[in-house]
Amino acid sequence: MKVVGFNGSARKDGNTAILLKRVLSVLEAAGIETELIQLAGQQIRGCTACRKCFETKNQRCVIEDDNVNLYIQKMAEADGVLLGSPTYFSMMTPELKALIDRAGFVARAKPKILKRKVGAAVVAVRRAGAIATFDAINHFFLINQMIVPGSSYWNIGVGNKKGEVENDTEGMETMETLGKNMAWLLKKTKA
Ligand SMILES: Cc1cc2nc3c(=O)[nH]c(=O)nc-3n(C[C@H](O)[C@H](O)[C@H](O)COP(=O)(O)O)c2cc1C
Repeated sequence: MKVVGFNGSARKDGNTAILLKRVLSVLEAAGIETELIQLAGQQIRGCTACRKCFETKNQRCVIEDDNVNLYIQKMAEADGVLLGSPTYFSMMTPELKALIDRAGFVARAKPKILKRKVGAAVVAVRRAGAIATFDAINHFFLINQMIVPGSSYWNIGVGNKKGEVENDTEGMETMETLGKNMAWLLKKTKA
């Protein structure tokens, strides 16, 4: 079994990465393979609404000059998908939104790509806007017929400077519990 995680932050190895890595380490301890992809520094454009993916139904976006098709393939091959973002003006980053829009349209053009995979969102925040971000990412999972595990709180970690999220004890515990629940769910649904 495999879970692929995406960090939508423009800051590599920051708070979102720390939260994601905590979840992934719990999954690894449960014997699940993991991979973390960080979008920082990448040029990922949004959906152009050409709707070609609905004609070709080939699991690909027509835009070929960035990594989105590779990432769609990784999602399609994985059993679980973890999407993380910092809160930027009360929403996910443009990079993660671009990935969601394009992967989402491709997945809906060929509806079974993500169906019944396990999906979870993780959000870093300095102060406010994390719930809107968390909700928006979860909408991607739910419209793709994915199964979303819960945790002991919503999957949010509080911090601003790089590494500060480590001081949010409850947030880090929430990630641990999310990892455990995700592993449990994967084993139940993929048995
Ligand atoms: C462009 C930008 C917008 C931000 N908007 C918000 C916001 O709306 N609410 C908030 O609490 N923090 C906001 N922040 C702070 C980040 O969410 C916070 O620093 C987070 O820990 C960054 O995670 P990272 O280290 O993974 O990038 C913003 C940061 C940036 C760069």
